[in-house]
This record gives sequence, C-alpha cells and structure tokens, in this order.
Amino acid sequence: TWTNEGIIAEQVASIRAQVGDKQVICGLSGGVDSAVAAALVHRAVGDQLTCVFVDHGLLRAGEAEQVETDYVEATGIKLKVVNAADRFLAALAGVTDPEQKRKIIGREFIRVFEQAAREVAEQGDVEFLVQGTLYPDVVESGGGTGTANIKSHHNVGGLPEDLKFALVEPLRTLFKDEVRAIGAELGLPEAMVWRHPFPGPGLAIRIIGEVTGDRLAILRAADRIAREELTAAGLDRDVWQFPVVLLADVRSVGVQGDGRTYGHPVVLRPVSSEDAMTADWSRLPYPVLAHISTRITNEVAEVNRVVLDVTSKPPGTIEWE
Ligand code: XMP
Repeated sequence: TWTNEGIIAEQVASIRAQVGDKQVICGLSGGVDSAVAAALVHRAVGDQLTCVFVDHGLLRAGEAEQVETDYVEATGIKLKVVNAADRFLAALAGVTDPEQKRKIIGREFIRVFEQAAREVAEQGDVEFLVQGTLYPDVVESGGGTGTANIKSHHNVGGLPEDLKFALVEPLRTLFKDEVRAIGAELGLPEAMVWRHPFPGPGLAIRIIGEVTGDRLAILRAADRIAREELTAAGLDRDVWQFPVVLLADVRSVGVQGDGRTYGHPVVLRPVSSEDAMTADWSRLPYPVLAHISTRITNEVAEVNRVVLDVTSKPPGTIEWE
C-alpha cells in the first residue's frame, strides 16, 4: 500500500524523467484534478511549468480568486490569467438552447486557451501539456495514452497541429479520493481540494434562458448563500453536488414589506450520488433549507421564491440543462 508521500515521491521522479529540462504548460479550471496535477508537476520541475487559467466569467463566487490568489500563494506556481468574461458573454448573447451554450463555450474556451498557449510557447521550449486524467477516465477511454488532444472538461476537440504537446498525466493511476488526499498533502486550499464536481460550462447551464451579466450576478449571489449554509451545517461531504438554478424567464408574484414583488425563482438541486450516472435528491435537514431560503430571499433582491427539486436521476438529470 502507498502512502501519500510515497505516491508524491514516485510521481515527482517520473515527471522529472519524462520532462527533463523542457517547458510544460497546464490549464487550470478551478477544479481539484487540474490543480493537483499542476501542483505535482510544479513540485517536480518548478518554474519549467506555466499554468494558464481562462476565466470565462461563468464560475461561482470566489472561485477565480481561489485560483488566482489562494492557489498561487499555496504553490508558488507561475500563472497566466486570461480574463475572457466579456468575450464569453458576447458569444452567448441571445442563446437559450443548452447544447448551443455548451458548443459556444467549448469553442471559445479552445480559442482563448490556444492563444494563451501560443504566447507561453513562444517564450521557450514547450513540449508538454499537463492533464488531470484520473484512473476512471483512463479505463473509460480504453486505456490509450497519446499526444496532443486537450480532453478538457469542455469536451472539445484537440489543438491544431502546430501546437502539439506530449501529455503529462500524473493522476492516471489514481481515484478521486486519492487525488484529494494528495492535494491536501501538497497544501492546496481546502475549498479547492473538497470542491464538488462543477460543469465546464459553469453557471451558463444553470441559468435557464439567456445568459447575461445581471443574471450571472443574481445566480452567483444565491449560489454563494446555498454553499455557505451547506458548509456551515457541516454537510459538504454528504452531498455530491448542489446546483442552484435560476429560472431567469420565469417570474412569480410575491410580497415583501408593504410591496408586491414580481421576481425570479431559484431552484435548489442538492443530490447524492456515487458517480453522477444516477443520483437521488438529498434529504437536507429542513432547518438548513429554511435558512437558505430565508437568506436568499432577504439578500438577493431579484429572487422572491426558492423551490426544491425532489427528482431523482433518472428521470431528471443533475443539471437543469
Ligand atoms: P447530468 O446533468 O447529465 O450531469 O446529470 C452529470 C454530471 O456531469 C456534469 N455535467 C457536465 N460537466 N460539462 C462538464 O464538464 C458539461 O457540459 C456538463 N454537463 C453536466 C454535471 O455537473 C454532473 O456532475
């Protein structure tokens, strides 16, 4: 059996052997896999690694800062941040179809990442790309390894021919819980190590309707409250994922103080699951739900109703889009 220190030492040695004195690039998503993979590579080859974080403006409250500030402080990693929120919003303007949103986000993500990768590559001998591939991904895809293709969390295609990299995949033999343990051992921010799975297209597929800056701000505020209360109740690890969904094209009548309101509903979608293939709705304690509801309707002016999704998967999916 392997200790975390043992796994880290073994991976560091094998990364050094693979990479030599070449430069390495890694895309960070905010999730645990890419964060741990990059931290391992950094431990092995230090400043030969450059990380790229494309901020598409669709992350939840605090998550970009977690990467740009907390993670960089914890690791000392060299990070190139691309703030592309305006570009993604412009590309998403007028789009309501879920698959169309995914396509657009995937396409824009690749374009932005590619440009950033080019800029990094121009500065030196970049031959390697880090990927946070886990053992279950390896098994699912038939076990092959290879060069180049970005199998990103956006499920998009590969990089063009002139940007071909060999892959460094230090998590290929590991399961999620082992990755978390190694992340903790490497001193990564707690919130990152224990982050729930979060879809690549981010909050865009949790706004039912067109994605706009105002709607993102509303959803971010509601989502932050739900996450804060889940954490405060000590329930983070009992829940697989906790999407909060904004029904942006729906309004309902409410009353607040002396006034009638005509606001939007948000849906709470806490689920328990083993692998996201099937899921059940989480039986969160009523006091926790009550707290979340009261806080959201008090603190987020545009939301006057909070509803709970009590559908299992199947027939519902975890996300609403
Ligand atoms: P569903 O909604 O299909 O989601 O039950 C299953 C799991 O996949 C995540 N998900 C995505 N992840 N890109 C991603 O990277 C996507 O387009 C996407 N859609 C769903 C979802 O959060 C859940 O963990």
